[in-house]
Amino acid sequence: MQIAVVGSGYVGLVAGACFADLGHDVIVVDNDEKKLAALNRGEVPIHENFLPELLERHRGNRLHFSDDLESAVRDSTAIFVAVGTPPNEQGEADLSYVESVARGIAGAINNYKIVVEKSTVPVYTSDWVRKIILRNGAENSEFDVASNPEFLREGTAVTDFLYPDRIVVGADVERCAAVLKEIYAPLVDGSYYQRPDSIPRPDRAQIPPPLIITSAKSAELIKHASNAFLAMKISFINAVASICESVGANVQQVCQGIGTDTRIGPRFLNPGIGYGGSCFPKDLTAFRAVARECGYDFRLLDEVIRINEEQRQRFIRKVRSALWTLRGKKLGVLGLAFKGGTDDIRESPAILLIASLLQEGCQICAYDPAAGERAKEELQAGIQLAENAYEAARGADALLILTEWEEFATLDLKQLHAELKYPIVIDGRNLYHPEVMAANGFTYYSVGRNAVSPDPAGSSTRAANLTKSTRS
Ligand code: UDX
Ligand code: UDX
Repeated sequence: MQIAVVGSGYVGLVAGACFADLGHDVIVVDNDEKKLAALNRGEVPIHENFLPELLERHRGNRLHFSDDLESAVRDSTAIFVAVGTPPNEQGEADLSYVESVARGIAGAINNYKIVVEKSTVPVYTSDWVRKIILRNGAENSEFDVASNPEFLREGTAVTDFLYPDRIVVGADVERCAAVLKEIYAPLVDGSYYQRPDSIPRPDRAQIPPPLIITSAKSAELIKHASNAFLAMKISFINAVASICESVGANVQQVCQGIGTDTRIGPRFLNPGIGYGGSCFPKDLTAFRAVARECGYDFRLLDEVIRINEEQRQRFIRKVRSALWTLRGKKLGVLGLAFKGGTDDIRESPAILLIASLLQEGCQICAYDPAAGERAKEELQAGIQLAENAYEAARGADALLILTEWEEFATLDLKQLHAELKYPIVIDGRNLYHPEVMAANGFTYYSVGRNAVSPDPAGSSTRAANLTKSTRS
């Protein structure tokens, strides 16, 4: 199948590379000349597992990059729209890029095409895309509009695409659904997984994945509702963590107790400093705005957002309770990305916290395995960057853990202790067992668990055996 993907951001680039891996011929279109030049030079603009391999495998064969939307549309049967849908001042999704791409597509339609929304968009968007294409001269019989939402998590986007929990195809007519079924056939019939060169299967993958066919509107809602539900799960456990802190309970034990109920499930129940990233924050406000426009006041979402913001304030209060005054304090920080495994700092709670701490007069030396340079640019050189976790801790009054990178959960605690001026760790991601930290001589604060002080009786051998992430 000839496919065009418009937008070479996190979503478009991953989708384009994966469609090529399924055997399709793909043109990825973008209007950012610099990005295109970098992609054509063989660079990989984002930190994403397996993406370099896929780009290497298909670039110049089944995968091309171009700024020419018109010829990409003419040459393709399916056009996936993956341009940005950023929030406007009212929190609604700004659909002007989607509209402008729809206009561009209209002028180039030369035979039957399907136009597929990949970007996260409000529930009425497919109707609008159809209207705009008709208004700009295309015939009703020449195209259909579908919604095929992505559920890609940054860091694992390639395997999320190729080993999805489900594929949602929102199409109102069969001829349109048929094109999408053909595109995803190698996943749904399982043939992709038989290939010797297929991207390795991650744990928990269900193969082949189910294909869910819905109306376009239902598919649009599935995307917003999924993200809102996941964000609600995180805010819920963060609220429970706050109660745990008040009464001296342990949120990890509570999570285990509720997450083993198969109706609830253990995933996305990790308390922390709140969710961030390019999706949850903007999708929550956009979904709230969509609901309001449809006449429903979705106050539950207000509360999810409020709890998320409060979680950062609670963390700052923790830093204060550990250090008393903040002006002039030197803080080591581990993690700048909005979550582990990515270099993305969009809406990163780590960045928002650091900005507040800088305002309070702290000095920050931070380490992140991938997001350092981007963060420094964003914070306008207000921080010093370290080469590794130990350097970030060197001479600091306390160490803050702000991103759940796996490597931060397996640090050499003896070395860390030796680097810090005071052995105080404030962990916003619950990467360590409190008793291990106490046994290793740390004063340790985490989320939803009692703060602990150095345990003079603790032996380092016992501690070493216990050193392990407690996250599910
Ligand atoms: C985007 C949306 O923001 C998100 O809502 C959706 O779920 C998936 O698509 P992302 O891929 O992270 O997410 O966006 P971004 O990194 O901003 O990439 C969009 C790309 O589209 C950029 O490369 C931009 O240059 C390109 N673009 C934008 C166009 O080619 N044409 C346009 O008119 C506008
Ligand atoms: C999310 C959705 O998971 C994905 O399906 C969608 O298509 C895009 O948005 P992503 O933003 O890449 O993906 O990250 P995700 O792994 O969902 O994490 C989002 C935020 O929630 C991060 O800041 C993360 O640290 C936080 N989080 C996640 C928690 O605080 N606790 C958890 O248990 C899980």
